[in-house]
Amino acid sequence: MDEPALFDATARRPQPAPSLEELAATAAGCTNCDLYRHATQTVFGKGPQHARLVIVGEQPGDAEDLAGEPFVGPSGRLLDRALVDAGIDRGTVYVTNAVKHFKFTPRGKRRIHQTPKSEEIKACRPWLDGELVAVGPEVVVALGATAAKALLGPSFRVSVQRGEVFDRDGVRYTATLHPSALLRLRDDERDAAVADFTDDLRAVAALLGDA
Ligand code: URA
Repeated sequence: MDEPALFDATARRPQPAPSLEELAATAAGCTNCDLYRHATQTVFGKGPQHARLVIVGEQPGDAEDLAGEPFVGPSGRLLDRALVDAGIDRGTVYVTNAVKHFKFTPRGKRRIHQTPKSEEIKACRPWLDGELVAVGPEVVVALGATAAKALLGPSFRVSVQRGEVFDRDGVRYTATLHPSALLRLRDDERDAAVADFTDDLRAVAALLGDA
C-alpha cells in the first residue's frame, strides 16, 4: 500500500504578513472608495517598521495630500511640538491616518476638509489593520473621534473617555483630542487645551516607560 504523502504541495499555507513597503505600494493604487478620485495621492503612514508607538489621525489634510506624508501641515506642527514637550521623539513613532485620501470640498481656490463617512473609514480599514500588524506596536494612540471610533468602537466618546487605556491582545490603546480641534479653539482657550493634550502624550510616554 502506498504511504500517504507527508507534504501536499498544493495545500494552502499561511502567507507572511505584508511589509509596510508592500502595503504602501498596494495602497497607492487603492480604489476601495471614491476618495481617490479627487485626492492627489494616497497618504500612507510613515515611521519605523517596528515602532513601539503608533499614532493614528483622521485623514490627510491639504498639506499632507500635496506632500504625500501624514501630519506635515499645521496639525502636524502642533503634534510635533507636543511630542517634544512630552519627551517623545517623532522619529521613533509610526504616524498614520484612519483614512488615506484627503476628503474635501472645493471652495474657490481652497479645499475644505470634510469628515469621512463610516463607509470610507471601513473601506480604508484593511490598510490600517495591515499597518498595525506590520508594525506590531505596544501602544496605539487615536487622535480625534474618527480614529478613536475606528479603533475603539463607534460608541467611543473622546470628550469623555480621552486618556483611558484599553488592553487588546497585549496592545494598549488610548485616545485624545485631534490637534486640528485645538487649532480651532479661541486664542484664550488654546493654551490650556494644548497643555492637556501634551499631558495626554506624557501619559503615553509613561505607558511606554512601563512596558
Ligand atoms: N489631520 C490628520 O488627521 N492627519 C493628518 O495627516 C493631517 C491632519
